[in-house]
Amino acid sequence: MERKPLAEAASQIASTQGLVAFTGAGISEESGIASFRGRGGLWDRYPPERFGTLRGLMAEFLLRPQRVAGFLQEILTSCLEAEPNPAHLALAQWETEGVLRAVITQNIDILHERAGCNKTIKLHGSIDRLRCVDCGFKQDLDETQLWGWARDLSLERIGRRQLWRALQKILSACPYCGGRRRPDVVFFGDLLPQDAWMEAQQAASLCQVLLVIGTSGLVYPAADIPMLAKKAGGILIEINPEPTPLTPLADLYLEGKAGEVMQELARQVTSIRH
Ligand code: OAD
Repeated sequence: MERKPLAEAASQIASTQGLVAFTGAGISEESGIASFRGRGGLWDRYPPERFGTLRGLMAEFLLRPQRVAGFLQEILTSCLEAEPNPAHLALAQWETEGVLRAVITQNIDILHERAGCNKTIKLHGSIDRLRCVDCGFKQDLDETQLWGWARDLSLERIGRRQLWRALQKILSACPYCGGRRRPDVVFFGDLLPQDAWMEAQQAASLCQVLLVIGTSGLVYPAADIPMLAKKAGGILIEINPEPTPLTPLADLYLEGKAGEVMQELARQVTSIRH
């Protein structure tokens, strides 16, 4: 980890009232949640054209229900078992102190919220919510319901009928209009939730510093957020163990893992501010 960019980043963060964070799967890696790309990532084991679209998942459901159950079960279990790491906690602390205005996240896990961030803008939805396809009504699920679902999916041998039953248990008819429901997460080919997308664009355009943590910057339109901030005159600080397509845009690149870098960054910000 280079000292100079980190000290410069700390000084920028300590002196701004307009900090916004933009996070991706990498911020949750140290909490034990696999990211999508790269060796061993979710899309490495479950090809996105089959598991990242609703149409692909339906085809898999017919052909390989056991694989679909494994995929859903892994996502649910890893999100439920994970604990916020120092990066999530530092952001939440900055929100409490009035340093951080918002976190724009692509993550469907609930680690920002569990760390205590109240201003989380979720571009790709959330694992703990259902959405009615017909009327748009959203319903939160509690951890007991999610654990129950994960258990139903964890049978060693699961056929189409059992998988269908397990899915129906949670995807029951909308209590509002009786319509069909689905998890409130964004699949490839879906539109982003428009309220979140508008809010994210506004937060990015108005921020003074955008802290980009743990994203490959490959998935649009979310990956436009850093460019929006930059065009509006914001300073970009990127934290990632590897350079990304966003790195050339960054004013400061902090090479390293989110939890480790954020811990040191938070320490330096505190010492500048007090
Ligand atoms: P990716 O899996 O594409 O990228 C993860 C990034 O995190 C990579 O740049 C890694 O180098 C970095 N990384 C890994 N470990 C890290 C650590 N400990 N600390 C910091 N960074 C680390 O994940 P996303 O960029 O979030 O969308 O992917 C964007 C979207 O693609 C996801 O929201 C999902 C996926 O398809 C949908 O499913 C719609």
